[in-house]
Amino acid sequence: MTGATVIDHPLVQHKLTHMRMKDTSTQGFRRLLREISVLLTYEVTRDLPITAMEIETPLEPMAAPVIEGKKLVFASVLRAGNGLLEGMLELVPAARVAHIGLYRDPKTLQPVEYYFKAPEDLGERLVIVVDPMLATANSAIAAVQRLKDRGATNIRFLCLLAAPEGIAKFNEAHPDVPIFTAAIDARLNEKGYIMPGLGDAGDRMYGTK
Ligand code: PRP
Ligand code: URA
Repeated sequence: MTGATVIDHPLVQHKLTHMRMKDTSTQGFRRLLREISVLLTYEVTRDLPITAMEIETPLEPMAAPVIEGKKLVFASVLRAGNGLLEGMLELVPAARVAHIGLYRDPKTLQPVEYYFKAPEDLGERLVIVVDPMLATANSAIAAVQRLKDRGATNIRFLCLLAAPEGIAKFNEAHPDVPIFTAAIDARLNEKGYIMPGLGDAGDRMYGTK
């Protein structure tokens, strides 16, 4: 598996454009991210295996489709991952949630972990890791490795924006983990920001700068 799947639905692209605009307010950015996350979740779960369940309608019994296997796990890379998580849980309310607290050291661009909490039976579930930005991919690589160390074997990575450099590095580190993104931008700048990008996702989401 190489590269990334781009979710190019017109609604996703339209909302993403508004998120990129520098004059979009904190409130507007958060609302758009929640809306877009529902659409992204729809695509990242499109091929989930289905099984038949015997049910009774008011008229007669039938074998009806339901999602096979245990409940999904959404693993949010803090803090910006939480902006995607909210909408994902609206669509899949029964999902379990993991939190991976990481921040990117601005000088070294290496991730620093400050929190980790996940369901115990990760090995029996599909884990969808969420973080809006895949820049150098250092954070995503570390987050996925942490989940693998805890037993996860079936993992997908969902983001909003990815840099080509980050995709290549992530694919090399975790070739078994497919990437889903709304867009692949042109490049990283000298500070490791995605260009043209949308700025610092966490700051824009929470109004911290
Ligand atoms: C951002 C973003 C990713 C990371 C991406 O988080 O949400 O986690 O940077 O960069 P990378 O691919 O180069 O590792 P940040 O460290 O700014 O933390 P925050 O979410 O708490 O703002
Ligand atoms: N983190 C962000 O929030 N934005 C970028 O462009 C890169 C890393």
